[in-house]
Amino acid sequence: MWWRCLSGSLAFTLHHMQYPIKGAGLGLRRALLSDMAKLSDDAVDFLEVAPENWIGVGGRFGRQFRALTERFPLICHGLSLSIGSPAPLDIRLLNDIKKFMREHKAILYSEHLSYCGDHGQLYDLMPIPFTAEAVEFVAARIKQAQDILERRIVLEHVSYYVAPGQEMSEIEFLNAVIETADCGLLVDVNNIFVNSVNFGYDAESFLDALPVHRAAYIHIAGHYVEAEDIRIDTHAADVIEPVWALLDKAYGRFGVLPTLLERDFNFPGMAHLLSEVGRIKIAQAQQLKSGRASSSDARAG
Ligand SMILES: [Fe+2]
Repeated sequence: MWWRCLSGSLAFTLHHMQYPIKGAGLGLRRALLSDMAKLSDDAVDFLEVAPENWIGVGGRFGRQFRALTERFPLICHGLSLSIGSPAPLDIRLLNDIKKFMREHKAILYSEHLSYCGDHGQLYDLMPIPFTAEAVEFVAARIKQAQDILERRIVLEHVSYYVAPGQEMSEIEFLNAVIETADCGLLVDVNNIFVNSVNFGYDAESFLDALPVHRAAYIHIAGHYVEAEDIRIDTHAADVIEPVWALLDKAYGRFGVLPTLLERDFNFPGMAHLLSEVGRIKIAQAQQLKSGRASSSDARAG
């Protein structure tokens, strides 16, 4: 496994060494395609797509998509691999994704630490039981997927609303899977916030317990406020202030990782989306500035 030999020497600072993506990105959705075709080159630093939505798409949509992937660096963010499912791993899908990534020069592939069904496909992200047995089971499937794709993949911790069969905490489960599978981590600050409200834990403590050396990039998004203590992760609203604050904390912990704005429904118009992408860029610039200031303070001291 050549990628394992290579990545072993990476000592795993994904964003510094392996992936030439930086700055602020936007999720490419079919509904945004025409508006995104008009973007200036400096409007976003990268795009993220669900490969399942674009594999085999031809015609006008296919040409518009190709034009965008030729202009902007691309991340693939899978939706339906169902890495935690008891059903056999979808080898055909992985091979299609591998080909798609090659065709569009995609820089990395991420998926959700969840499952979408057994032998059927429910197209939803369901929580894997937080157990030692599930750690071994899922980590083996991630390794298998990495071997097929011949690259290290990146797993996102998901928002969830029930925790069946829980034997360990979410953070213990997540960290055990990431380490056992030897894969990367996608940090979603909105998911952390939503889960912290719904399950009554401290979001910053969760962030502080994530492994810095595994973190590849960050997601930020809006959610629905069902009640003060019930939040639903919809990606259909603006990012709220506590989540922006958590992004600043994440930069303080992980450094300025590439960060993607996810918006999947209730689209507000491209100008508004770009204003949120712009806010990510401002947060990144401020973090870099304060980092430089503190390192010059240290030198002065
Ligand atoms: Fe996400």
